[in-house]
Amino acid sequence: MKILVTGGAGFIGSNFIIYIMEKYPDYKIVNLDKLTYAGNLENLKKVENNPNYTFIHGDICDRKIVERAMEGCQTVVHFAAESHVDRSIDQPAVFIQTNIIGTEILLEVAKELNIKRFHHVSTDEVFGTLSLNNLEEKFNETTPYSPRSPYSASKAGSDHLVRAFFETYNFPATISNCTNNYGPFQFPEKIIPLFITNAFEDKPLPIYGKGQAIRDYLYVIDHCVALDLIIHKGKIGETYCIGGDSEKNGVEIADTILNLLDKPQNLKTFVEDRKGHDMRYAMDHSKITRELGWKPSVSFEEGIKKTIAWYKNKKWKK
Ligand SMILES: NC(=O)c1ccc[n+]([C@@H]2O[C@H](COP(=O)([O-])OP(=O)(O)OC[C@H]3O[C@@H](n4cnc5c(N)ncnc54)[C@H](O)[C@@H]3O)[C@@H](O)[C@H]2O)c1
Repeated sequence: MKILVTGGAGFIGSNFIIYIMEKYPDYKIVNLDKLTYAGNLENLKKVENNPNYTFIHGDICDRKIVERAMEGCQTVVHFAAESHVDRSIDQPAVFIQTNIIGTEILLEVAKELNIKRFHHVSTDEVFGTLSLNNLEEKFNETTPYSPRSPYSASKAGSDHLVRAFFETYNFPATISNCTNNYGPFQFPEKIIPLFITNAFEDKPLPIYGKGQAIRDYLYVIDHCVALDLIIHKGKIGETYCIGGDSEKNGVEIADTILNLLDKPQNLKTFVEDRKGHDMRYAMDHSKITRELGWKPSVSFEEGIKKTIAWYKNKKWKK
């Protein structure tokens, strides 16, 4: 099988490429990535000399490059995106360009080239926010879309396009909506790698508002396992919700990291809350558990230790 991975130099994409190339040594992988601030070819050192791996430096909005990258592939796994909510609040335009226009170009080319399966990687954030008053409530595949940030609105737009291609053209697509990932290779702007790298350097850990906003954390390799199942066994036209069963708020994340690194509690610093901050995300992943036999296997306690160990001695330009 030959797979085009878009955004394969980013956090989840690079973990996915390494995971797939180790599990299926005969698969060929083409990685198309623009190498924005979030893309890092260092992540792919393990596979860069593998003859089954090809890197193409390019933009998913560039149709010619997309055509070249997709030539001869049977499957597309689409990760490429602008992915940070705070950046989307400051500069929404690039999110519309990459996340919506870029996805549409990929879909058009994939349709023309008769790609057998197109998997679109999306987020729980398209569903909006849950309340802190009912902690039993979770998102699932039937939750109506209600995005509240430019990032989540752009991802919702791309999800709708993928679904529209399936409905209109019988295009062979699947979608997954996943909760917050953490693990190796994540650019240290999102909460877990930011807090870990700051704590190592005795810098403040900036906690939004009162630190009460809850996210559900999934170890990135568990996400790769879920994607592997979906691209091999997922039903065309379906959406799968993926979650980590590990809900934590900002204060809990900071406390865990400071305790594990034996750093002082006064590194916790409360800063102005994010504009329009979603207060809680949580995912009911029972569909993918029932239909494809997937569930998260790495506990938060184990995953955070592995993640801290990975960031130790790594130098990042933030
Ligand atoms: N990180 C999470 O917690 C999370 C959770 C759910 C869903 N997702 C989704 O998973 C996907 C991957 O997320 P991530 O955290 O690995 O993102 P990331 O920001 O770490 O990586 C994104 C990658 O896409 C590349 N890219 C950006 N614009 C591009 C363009 N126009 N053309 C080609 N390449 C481009 C970047 O260079 C980078 O390598 C995204 O679609 C994101 O919305 C992420």
